[in-house]
Amino acid sequence: MQKLVIKGGAPLYGELVNQTAKNAALPIIAACMLTEDPIVIKDCPHLKDIDAMLNIMRHLGCSAYFDGDDLNVCCRDVTLNVINADLTGKLRSSIFILGSILSRCRSAYISHPGGCEIGLRPIDLHIFGLKALSVKIEDDGGVICCDGSKMKSAVVNLDFASVGATENLMMAGALLDGETVIVNAAREPEIVDLAQFINAMGGRVRGAGESIIRINGVKKLHGCTYRPIPDRISAGTYLAAVALCGGDALIKNVVPEHVFGITERLKKSGARLTVKNGAARIASDGRPRAVHKLETNVYPAFPTDMQPQFCALLSCAQGSSVIVENLFENRFGYTGELVKMGAKITVKDRIAVVTGVDGLHGATVKACDLRGGAALVIAGLKADGVTDVIDVEHIDRGYQNIEQAFRLLGGNVERVNR
Ligand code: UD1
Repeated sequence: MQKLVIKGGAPLYGELVNQTAKNAALPIIAACMLTEDPIVIKDCPHLKDIDAMLNIMRHLGCSAYFDGDDLNVCCRDVTLNVINADLTGKLRSSIFILGSILSRCRSAYISHPGGCEIGLRPIDLHIFGLKALSVKIEDDGGVICCDGSKMKSAVVNLDFASVGATENLMMAGALLDGETVIVNAAREPEIVDLAQFINAMGGRVRGAGESIIRINGVKKLHGCTYRPIPDRISAGTYLAAVALCGGDALIKNVVPEHVFGITERLKKSGARLTVKNGAARIASDGRPRAVHKLETNVYPAFPTDMQPQFCALLSCAQGSSVIVENLFENRFGYTGELVKMGAKITVKDRIAVVTGVDGLHGATVKACDLRGGAALVIAGLKADGVTDVIDVEHIDRGYQNIEQAFRLLGGNVERVNR
């Protein structure tokens, strides 16, 4: 068990190179199953969620190893199509691999991923989509049994633009005869990245980034070397930290359009930003302005994965802000921990009212989920005194060496064994 010990209260100055995107790398790793050839994923981030996905891949018979920051994956031999609960329980997005296992083996048995800290996270859209591709599915709530022997391309109309369901269907359709069409597809940058990866393997995916995606199946895909996009959420987290603590920092490896929904809100709350040439420069005096209403929604709207970090920011704003969480039903769990640090936040259902306070104070707080944990770290950097963030494992799921990143900005953050 490890914790982060943060001595806060100082502004942040410096520069860092942002990691590649966890949420792009995860489905790309799953999609490696679509070819027997070796794949190199350049600059793959070293994260707990990536390790969990690699363990699943190895369990299925693939080889996966890091050579420095480059991940080498080869799925020449897929010996198993069963994933038990001990593996799916470690990574909710293990369900993303269903489409590629089916594509490869034409049958799959996967234990239910279940809910998680931020909500129930049902998988009905994944199941609906695969059934539309003529996969027979029996799901008793324990193991999802899939028979894809009669799989064929089709038009799939999703009721909601789910990121994971869209990715699953793209992988499932990549090797099917004919055209698979996803209507009301998710439009997140990670979807576009997966399409580009499949196309780099010789696939034919068009329309990613728009709401209709067309996948023309090919007979075979081949190996390639691919670098996933920069992580818009880790970039946003570092920017929010500087907006909250004050200072001046340069975050490199950022795609300006991908962070637009985040940087526009940071500007509204008073930070000065220039985003160009693959980097974001932020300067702030450390006393943010309240935001009348901050509402999460699907891309390109404000991302739910940045909601907790903005709540930390707005907890020290001049005035009151309202945050509405539209994607996950249980994503305010971390607010109780921010309150221990002096924040004034009231939550009712999916709405939080944040009354800005003059400052925060150090406390021992618990990271209950990935982004909520990141919010506590940036609150700790702002707070007077020492903050201990326990259960840091949640943060390690999505941030590569978060203490090192903040140290590059002059933050006083140490990881210690408890
Ligand atoms: C992905 C991201 C996650 C992000 C989320 C929303 C990855 C690995 N994770 O998660 O970080 O917070 O997008 O941007 O990329 N839903 C259903 N039924 C389904 C599927 C989803 O009701 O079958 C609901 C979910 O419960 C949630 C909403 O749809 O309320 C959004 O989920 P989805 O877009 O599928 O997110 P994920 O792919 O799980």
